[in-house]
Amino acid sequence: MQFSLKEIYKDYFRIGAAVSADSLDSHKELILKHFNSITCENAMKFGITEPERDKYKLEDADKIYNFAIDNGIAIRGHNFVWHQEVPDWLFENPDRELLKTVLDNHIKTLAERYPEVYCWDVINEGLDDSEERFYRDTPWYELFGEEYFKIAFDISDKYLKGKTLFYNDYNEFNPVKRRKYLELAERLKSEGVPISGVGLQCHLGLNHRFSIDEIKEGIELYAKLGLKLQITELDFSLYPYEDREMHTQPTFEEYKQQAETCKSVFRVFREYGKEIEAVTLWGVSDDVSWLNDFPVKGRKNGGLLFDEEQKPKECFYAICDF
Ligand code: GLA
Repeated sequence: MQFSLKEIYKDYFRIGAAVSADSLDSHKELILKHFNSITCENAMKFGITEPERDKYKLEDADKIYNFAIDNGIAIRGHNFVWHQEVPDWLFENPDRELLKTVLDNHIKTLAERYPEVYCWDVINEGLDDSEERFYRDTPWYELFGEEYFKIAFDISDKYLKGKTLFYNDYNEFNPVKRRKYLELAERLKSEGVPISGVGLQCHLGLNHRFSIDEIKEGIELYAKLGLKLQITELDFSLYPYEDREMHTQPTFEEYKQQAETCKSVFRVFREYGKEIEAVTLWGVSDDVSWLNDFPVKGRKNGGLLFDEEQKPKECFYAICDF
């Protein structure tokens, strides 16, 4: 295969992948050939980095960080504040001052240990999906209310001066969520909160969870915020989110449709190539994609550009040839 994604897209944006420490060995060639940005799929999350209070476990994050540095690959940080994948001890004692100190230590430790990480998702998924609620009901929100946004961004800014600090969320093209996302970003900016990037996760699906027009319109609106813009967790599920059937093997027709979807989505990304800084796929190839276990455990769902044998799929060729 002569195509290299990072070469093809070098005049548009960085092409990234979420990786695990193991995939650096099992998928090394593919990563080196195609990607010039990586994100730790899980290794920098709170639950992994601090499974016990004051005891850091950073072997996997170290391995991924060193791999990036040794190979001249940019690395983005993911994530500091989220309601999932947090350790059990974190909210055991719901004391606001204590939690602020814990968060400060956490961010300081990661910021100092990984100085070359060029941007961080400071807050992940803090907005609610419904019409009724604005903020998602999480332990962070219960304890601090909306102030936790300011707290987390201020701490990050203290230790990460000059790095891009992202708010990152999904369902970002849904009109209800999009309105909230834009409002949140404007609100934070006007209050002087040091947010400097918006991350659009882009977990899409066939018959695209969102139409191409919605994606285009959304990107245009997010770009107008005047913040850095990245696609942070792209994949193309073969099944709509609502479909919980155990399909055994994806069909030729589904892969073909997937390729068409990829082609049109990347056409929009290229159109906004000046505004979009990086496009990161959530995984390297279909064998290691989270979609094989979500929302249906054990269901094969090839949502990435390379198949289970790490070979390029039709959707890969569809975005190389334009
Ligand atoms: C979310 C998170 C990611 C990852 C994906 C699915 O979108 O931001 O860290 O957990 O879900 O794997």
